[in-house]
Amino acid sequence: MCGIVGYAGTKPALPVLLDGLARLEYRGYDSAGVAWIENGEIQRTRCQGKLAGLRELLENGKRSECPIGIGHTRWATHGAPTEENAHPHTDCTKSLVVVHNGIIENYYSLREQLKKEGHKFRSETDTEVLAHLIEKHLKDDIIDAVRKTLSEVEGAFAMGVLWKGEPDKLIAARKESPLVLGAGEGENFMASDIPALLPYTREIIFLEDGDLAVLTADGIDITRIDTGEPVNREIKTISWDATAAEKAGFRHFMLKEIYEQPQGVLNTFRGRVIPETGEVDLPEIELADEDIRKISRIVLLACGTSWHAGLVAKYWIEEWAGIPVEVDLASEFRYRRLLVDETVLTVPISQSGETADTLAGLRIAKEKGSPVIAICNVVGSTITRESHGTIYTHAGPEIGVASTKAFTSQLTALYILALFLAQVKDTMSAEERSEKIHALTEVPRLMEKHLEEIHQACTDLSDEFYQYRDFLYLGRHLHFPIALEGALKLKEISYIHAEGYAAGEMKHGPIALIDRNMPVVALVPKDHVYDKMVSNVEEVRSRRGIIIAVAEEGDENVARVAQHIIRVPATTEQSIKPFIFTLPLQLIAYEISFARGCDVDQPRNLAKSVTVE
Ligand code: M6R
Repeated sequence: MCGIVGYAGTKPALPVLLDGLARLEYRGYDSAGVAWIENGEIQRTRCQGKLAGLRELLENGKRSECPIGIGHTRWATHGAPTEENAHPHTDCTKSLVVVHNGIIENYYSLREQLKKEGHKFRSETDTEVLAHLIEKHLKDDIIDAVRKTLSEVEGAFAMGVLWKGEPDKLIAARKESPLVLGAGEGENFMASDIPALLPYTREIIFLEDGDLAVLTADGIDITRIDTGEPVNREIKTISWDATAAEKAGFRHFMLKEIYEQPQGVLNTFRGRVIPETGEVDLPEIELADEDIRKISRIVLLACGTSWHAGLVAKYWIEEWAGIPVEVDLASEFRYRRLLVDETVLTVPISQSGETADTLAGLRIAKEKGSPVIAICNVVGSTITRESHGTIYTHAGPEIGVASTKAFTSQLTALYILALFLAQVKDTMSAEERSEKIHALTEVPRLMEKHLEEIHQACTDLSDEFYQYRDFLYLGRHLHFPIALEGALKLKEISYIHAEGYAAGEMKHGPIALIDRNMPVVALVPKDHVYDKMVSNVEEVRSRRGIIIAVAEEGDENVARVAQHIIRVPATTEQSIKPFIFTLPLQLIAYEISFARGCDVDQPRNLAKSVTVE
């Protein structure tokens, strides 16, 4: 997730670009850059790190009155957060410049082909391919060259292009990455998100997938990328204030991030799986197949929510690849005698890539000769630098302290990893893998379609339950870790005591706690332990427990045992149910925290990234 801006008007572009980027910095701040056209030549200034560095460079260096320009603030996905990898990117002759947000899935093959044709690449990014492809297709019509380029790329893009041959035109295009246009008086704008434009205009055009727009000071022309046919897009007047707009109209970042999960899951599996053939491609695992076959055990190493993702993955990996898995709390792992050697694969899981305990555990495992493949959301973070390879989750920056979209993206990466191991070890047929991949590719759609109704049910429930002091969360099998995650979410943002428990363990002690003052959230998916779970819920009910069941649509049986039911969509494939069952637990925690007046995004005593022991 990056932020892009563009301006075509009559005023100097640079202040507008810098101001817009500042409002988009929440989308990433690994590097920043701007480009404009001066005396017929492309000019650009880029800088590693936050926008403040770019401002300083511009103040001490190039200044410009140029009335057209593009800018970018980066959340790294391909290539480390360095100046060379910072946008805007140019072609070989510096005749054009590109900013991009998204992922070009086939960048590697395009890049190899372009290199053979003599193009010189200067960065490790997927974006640079766009600049060289446009250069390749450019005769004298920049729009035609952009169209031809976009017909060759696979993946997602929101992009802006300037060409010195037509210095009054800014070209914008989008597919599956956000891009809005702002219509002004004698000036027009492009941005990844509305807040960047609000100080200048409230007249917004939402581009649709497959749209290409040409912006000049005098107007905006929109056509379809593939056919070139003109299209009319309605101008909408936005009434939000700037802060609300940064959260895209959501009350809190946490809520926005909950709603971003379909995209996070999609971005994480995109380009890595082929549903039709059941193939999984994970070049990030730089281990030869024969070394993978020799793995005797896998250690998943993490803290907090990331640890819960690891607990879910244990079931998938053991079931599909037949490799024993230990899921270690990093803070415990680092202080015990470790039976780890070169046959043990260590997988640190971390959203931030900076968690001190996970990093320390990784270092110890590495010293013992274990190959280390991280799962991480932040490109270039310490954990990724110190691991032998990293499978990135592409959730985009997570700002709310309570981890939400990072969790479901981690589940996605781990799901793919489990299938990849099964593929290399040949423990699962291509047909079976294909079924699992098909099911995974359905998850974003299911989430998207049902999030609002699940949210409404959780809001209604929170009215009744926000004053309780204790909660119990129960689940079995894949949903035991999801119960732990639900309890953690509630604890950390609403300061209510909550415990997650394996439902089968209740009779070994915790059932003594059951009374009218402790609601029990029971996860009751239609899986192979459904009957067992229902029996466990009945045991609670018969002790006068208050039961809030999370159950699938069409499951009428559960109404016998639960006083309250939150419905989630039914799925036939068991393995994807944890993705769906996570949603109401996040939303219950969110709504209860809000009802209690807590600071949802920055709960007391917590930090987003725990870089101390
Ligand atoms: O950045 P990491 O994934 O390594 O962070 C691990 C935990 O600190 C984190 O998941 C924490 O538990 C969250 N606050 C949970 O919402």
